[in-house]
Amino acid sequence: MASVDHRFSVAPMMDWTDRHCRFFHRLLTRRALIYTEMITTAAIIHGDRARLLGYEPAEHPVALQLGGCDPRALAECARIGADFGYDEINLNVGCPSDRVQEGRFGACLMAEPALVGDCVAAMKANVAIPVTVKCRIGIDEQDPELSLDAFATAVAQAKVDALIVHARKAWLKGLSPRENRDVPPLDYDRVFRLKAAYPKLSVVLNGGVASVEQAASFLDRVDGVMMGRAAYQEPWRLMQVDPLVFGEAAPVAQAKAAVEAMMPYIERELAHETRLASMTRHMLGLFRGVPGARAFRRVLATEAVKPGAGVAVLAEALAHVVDTPAVPAHIAA
Ligand SMILES: Cc1cc2nc3c(=O)[nH]c(=O)nc-3n(C[C@H](O)[C@H](O)[C@H](O)COP(=O)(O)O)c2cc1C
Repeated sequence: MASVDHRFSVAPMMDWTDRHCRFFHRLLTRRALIYTEMITTAAIIHGDRARLLGYEPAEHPVALQLGGCDPRALAECARIGADFGYDEINLNVGCPSDRVQEGRFGACLMAEPALVGDCVAAMKANVAIPVTVKCRIGIDEQDPELSLDAFATAVAQAKVDALIVHARKAWLKGLSPRENRDVPPLDYDRVFRLKAAYPKLSVVLNGGVASVEQAASFLDRVDGVMMGRAAYQEPWRLMQVDPLVFGEAAPVAQAKAAVEAMMPYIERELAHETRLASMTRHMLGLFRGVPGARAFRRVLATEAVKPGAGVAVLAEALAHVVDTPAVPAHIAA
């Protein structure tokens, strides 16, 4: 089986990690594993697959995240994903939204470890690529000591290839999905104990990781770290991944070079009627803290949304920025 390196990944984020975002992130790091937004089995089975699952070859390694709870449907969608060339299939057992609860998948599956085990086994039987699960440490009144162990045992028996743990509980009633990403306290020690108790299980820690340095510091206690909001909101951080986690040069020495490298892609997409703003929105935090960053954001916020806006707008925004390397020169290319 092809193996996937989980040492550093960018989290699946609905409405954020679309294909434009992923293409852009890949210009900042060659090595991070990147995830799609969650796509439900119903959407894949009944919807426009080319639109939902299409991606650029440059995005590899890229994992497809599925939402669902029916082993047969998941197995079918895993196969479809593998046929599209995704490097990994991931099952979402962490999302607490009402819509997802109605479909009886996402975080509420933390209460049904045996069913999740069946889902993993069914997917693994149907594909040759890794099958992974992303979960919480528990939900509602569950005791995370027990719930996470029961869950890990079930997915390990099904031979899951990695378990990504968002290191906080989800409260299915009373908290919005957004609050569920901040309010329940983080418990990294629970995830470290999981790895110690299941040394053969590949365990990835997620939740609240603020910097690539911090992520690298966890790699002696878990197999990998997944970063979500910090990577999306300040994508310059991704320039640190290849040097600090993999000991390799970053693909670009300066963030400005990544924007320039994005331009041919943007031109191609504009020719296919993609709006400029739907691509540049993922770049807004690239220069945070750098002189000119505010003007960069302002030009994009006001001009890129206008009908017919083209790459000239991005070039104009970029001209305001004084770039500095995100990685010290002795580490960068
Ligand atoms: C806008 C947004 C959308 C998200 N969508 C998903 C999703 O589709 N699937 C999923 O498993 N988690 C989703 N998450 C949760 C993240 O993957 C991650 O677990 C969470 O943000 C905690 O990591 P962080 O503190 O590094 O951001 C989403 C988070 C955000 C901020």
